[in-house]
Amino acid sequence: LRALILVGGYGTRLRPLTLSRPKPLVEFANKPMLMHQIEALVESNVTEIILAVSYRAEDMEKELAIQAEKLGANLIFSHENEPLGTAGPIALAQKVLSSCDEPFFVLNSDIICDFPFKQLLQFHKSHKKEGTIVVTKVEEPSKYGVVIYEDDGKIESFIEKPQEFVSNKINAGIYIFNPSVLNRIELRPMSIEKEVFPEMAKDGQLYAMELPGFWMDVGQPRDFLTGMCMYLASLKQKSPEKLHTGEGVVGNVLIDPTATIGKGCRIGPNVTIGPNVHLADGCCIKRSTLLRGSIVKEHAWLDGCIVGWQSVVGRWVRMEGITVLGEDVIVKDEIYINGGQVLPHKNIATSVPEPQIIM
Ligand code: GDD
Ligand code: MG
Repeated sequence: LRALILVGGYGTRLRPLTLSRPKPLVEFANKPMLMHQIEALVESNVTEIILAVSYRAEDMEKELAIQAEKLGANLIFSHENEPLGTAGPIALAQKVLSSCDEPFFVLNSDIICDFPFKQLLQFHKSHKKEGTIVVTKVEEPSKYGVVIYEDDGKIESFIEKPQEFVSNKINAGIYIFNPSVLNRIELRPMSIEKEVFPEMAKDGQLYAMELPGFWMDVGQPRDFLTGMCMYLASLKQKSPEKLHTGEGVVGNVLIDPTATIGKGCRIGPNVTIGPNVHLADGCCIKRSTLLRGSIVKEHAWLDGCIVGWQSVVGRWVRMEGITVLGEDVIVKDEIYINGGQVLPHKNIATSVPEPQIIM
């Protein structure tokens, strides 16, 4: 089986993190976002994975090649000279995708869920039409592609980012297509959501499969943290041994074994601590992700934060309200930050009481 992952796009909504790394390489629950997908694909017997890349490809390729090799996955990089949108990359990879009769998967790279590839393939083969998309229910459908379908799954219409409410069932960003879909796609910047799905629906060739379990697009900070909570809860169900327990740990907490934790810390619920992170004594961390190599000094208090790679949070600092520190930021002692988005390599020496971007 084959799959194409859409890895392009600028990831602007996940700034300041994406100023240092492409979105698919930002670690979600201590693993690059993309690796969650690659692992799930490999588990479902997908042997050839095309990565459709348009942005900062060099960094990504080096790092992914190492990780994918360990899994035994064959990664094929498909380079775009200009961003081709969400459909164009499929035309660009035409040769590989039409090399056999079997259907192939396509997925967005910024979504997290229990990837249902096996069920998807089975359902797709059962209705015998050209394509199937996975759908999920959300509270704010206007941010997504909305799908209207019949009881048997047959899609009547697909509306990308509708201004008015039509339904709360949305496109989860996971598809399977017969190679014949290539006849609908041109080699130019093209949107699968706006230019391909509506046509397929009109022709009665597009079906929907409902996703069981959790789902989140983790392409922006608030949703990244919400997705992390969902992911940790699901990990608790499936492999609780991966979560951390012990003194001071509350609820679902993931800690890399190379991280060091001081005395008297209170960690959780819903915290991910990356490799080589250091927490000094008496810290309190809730609903946050601390990325590789970051340092949190004594008695700092964090709730709803993403701390970027190698950043340093001073003593008695208080940060909350979806605060995101880019790479290598230094927050001086006793500072308060509420909803700050701090660009890489900044020093913060005065408090930031209202949400803002700090450049
Ligand atoms: N190769 C390539 N080239 N990939 C791209 C390009 C491009 O020019 N533009 C975007 N992508 C990739 C992104 O990296 C992402 O993985 C995927 O295509 C979707 O782009 P987003 O920018 O994240 O779109 P969205 O989140 O606003 O909406 C999409 O995802 C929703 C689910 O999360 C749509 O597919 C919606 O219909 C869907 O509901
Ligand atoms: Mg997205």
